[in-house]
Amino acid sequence: MLEVDNIHVNYGRLQALRGVSLSVREGEIVCVVGPNGAGKSTTLGAIAGGVTPHAGRITLRGQSLGGLPPEAVARLGVSLVPEGRHVFGSLTVAENLRIGTFQRRDRAAVAADFERILEHFPRLRERLQQPAGRLSGGEQQMLVIGRALMTRPRLVMVDEPSLGLAPKIVDQVYDILIKLRHAANLTLLINEQSSERVLKFADRIYVMRGGRIHLEDRAANLQDGKAIMQAYFGFADGTGAPPPLSPAPTMKRAAE
Ligand SMILES: Nc1ncnc2c1ncn2[C@@H]1O[C@H](COP(=O)(O)OP(=O)(O)OP(=O)(O)O)[C@@H](O)[C@H]1O
Ligand SMILES: [Mg+2]
Repeated sequence: MLEVDNIHVNYGRLQALRGVSLSVREGEIVCVVGPNGAGKSTTLGAIAGGVTPHAGRITLRGQSLGGLPPEAVARLGVSLVPEGRHVFGSLTVAENLRIGTFQRRDRAAVAADFERILEHFPRLRERLQQPAGRLSGGEQQMLVIGRALMTRPRLVMVDEPSLGLAPKIVDQVYDILIKLRHAANLTLLINEQSSERVLKFADRIYVMRGGRIHLEDRAANLQDGKAIMQAYFGFADGTGAPPPLSPAPTMKRAAE
């Protein structure tokens, strides 16, 4: 469905992506894990059209996304839920869900989409007329996911849905995403800093660090976590432990 082929992205002089390739098949759940600054958000931004790579190719079902603005990528069925849960705080939950649909003429279909989405998010249904700013963090995460679904996407990219949420709430968010995969026929590309949770439900995992992919495999092959640790931290010996710290030269001199 999606092919990212050797993309490079710079922010000024900073090389954020140094040749990233990944692919997502129809119906898969693929997770990209990696530490802060690895380039995970930049990768999703490049696919969604908000960030322009200076080299490489991105194709969706064989069609190049190169140079397309975000609205055009969205029209092809790709939806990005950015990190940080951006809701319109003074608008109601219902208004937040409908915000992307005001241009649509097919009002009956919009109403049906709205209803279909609320079936998956009972907490949102209970709070439809409340300002979105008053929702809890977990509810806001559900709201931004629900809003992304209003455009009937086929590929949904979610950037760090667990960020700052309690583990129990993260479980609820992921339960919904996994159910939606079948119910709404979705393909999912998800960024997370931690591999622990995604190992349970991802089909495949990419480990990213320093703007590069360091590991790609089926989640089933990565369950012991060793290879992920090695790729994530860049340890050479594969023990999963950081290399011993060598004393800083200045300290040595002080001891002499
Ligand atoms: N708009 C920007 N302008 C300049 N540098 C940026 C910008 N966005 C990201 N960067 C830099 O690009 C690199 C990759 O950032 P990115 O946000 O893609 O990483 P990430 O893996 O999503 O990290 P995190 O887990 O912290 O969200 C980092 O060094 C970051 O500081
Ligand atoms: Mg990020």
